[in-house]
Formats: sequence, C-alpha cells, structure tokens
Amino acid sequence: MKNRIISPSLLSADFSKLKEQIDVVVDAGATRLHLDVMDGHFVPNFTFGPFIVKAIRKLTDAHLETHLMISNPEKYLQDFIDAGSDTLIFHYEASNDINRDIDIIKSNNILAGIAINPDTDISNILPFLDSLDYVLIMSVNPGFGGQGFIDETLEKMKKLSSLSLKYDFIVGVDGGVNLNTINKVYETGVDVTIVGSGLYKSDNINKRFNDLMKR
Ligand code: DX5
Ligand code: ZN
Repeated sequence: MKNRIISPSLLSADFSKLKEQIDVVVDAGATRLHLDVMDGHFVPNFTFGPFIVKAIRKLTDAHLETHLMISNPEKYLQDFIDAGSDTLIFHYEASNDINRDIDIIKSNNILAGIAINPDTDISNILPFLDSLDYVLIMSVNPGFGGQGFIDETLEKMKKLSSLSLKYDFIVGVDGGVNLNTINKVYETGVDVTIVGSGLYKSDNINKRFNDLMKR
C-alpha cells in the first residue's frame, strides 16, 4: 500500500491565527500544506495572492503546494514561484499553453502540477503525464470549501493512480474529503488527499488529522 499523505487546505483555517493553525497540523504529522489561490474570474471567489504565500513560507518548512484557480496562469507563475511554492499547480481548463506553463515551473526547479475539474476527462492530460510531477483531481467544482464530494470522480483517481506507477508523477484529490468520504478516496490508491473543512472545522484538529490518517 502507498503511504497516505494528507495535505491540509488552509482555505478553511482561521487566518486570524494562521501560525497556530499551521502548527497544529504540522505537529499532528502534516508534511505539506495546500494553498488555494482564487481570482474571482476562473472561479467565483477570491482568496489571496503571492504576498500571502510568501508570508506562509516564513511560517513553516512544510512542502507548500499552491493550487492556482486563476485565468491566464502564465502571467503569475513566476510570482508564486518566487513566493516560495514547492509545487505549483495550474488548471488544465485555465491554461493557454500547457507545455509552456509546465516548462516555466520546472525551469525554476520546483514541481509542476495540473488540476482537472470534475467534468474534464483524463484523456485531455495524457499527453502531458511524462513531464508532470503531480496531477490534482478535483472532486468538487473549484471555488469553495465545504462542498459535497462528487463520486463520479473516483474512477479518474483509480485510472490515474495506476498510470502513475508507469510514469513518474503523484496523484492528489481535492474537495469534499472528510471522515465519511476518505475511505473511498484511499481505496483508489491516490497519493495525496487534500482536506479543508473536514479537518479545520473540527474542535480537535490534531485528533481529526490522526482519525483521517487511520481510516
Ligand atoms: C476548492 C479548493 C479546495 C478546498 C477543499 O476549490 O480547491 O482545496 O479547500 O475544501 P474542502 O476539503 O472543505 O472541500
Ligand atoms: Zn485546492
């Protein structure tokens, strides 16, 4: 069995005590953090830009995976690289030139990821698997935390997990994962499970992290 990796999504954290909210998941065993960047255009919501990623970089040594839910990602890739991302993920649906965007990221010696929406078929990204480090399967329509898990995306997780054994990339799942849905995610063989509200909305975040790991 693969190692289970839970990547807490700070979207559901309390930003008024961000350092505490990072430390609690790192103390519980988290080695990576998921940062959701939204532009109010590609998705109908806003979050934060490189300035906040840079601040988070100063607060932790954890691996930072920055999930760009923004149009025209090529305009901002360098800013998020310079801010200290370890993995930079852009959306298949937002990119104007996927090979170029992967090249920009990888030429800066960080890891390149692509995210696909629930309605996007994996056949679209097969040509890029060779050069990708990470594929993020959206199990909700991007834009908000706390949405319901879309079961139809499980099949894509299974297919990509088996493809990942042949190529050199890891698979993540993002959206609607909580105590009730995490088992079916684990069964697909994905590497990284992103959890936002299912972790941060708990009264005992440390215990919840461990409960999610043990499922
Ligand atoms: C959704 C974001 C997710 C979000 C997940 O657009 O990309 O990373 O934080 O939140 P939950 O786990 O609450 O669905
Ligand atoms: Zn995300």
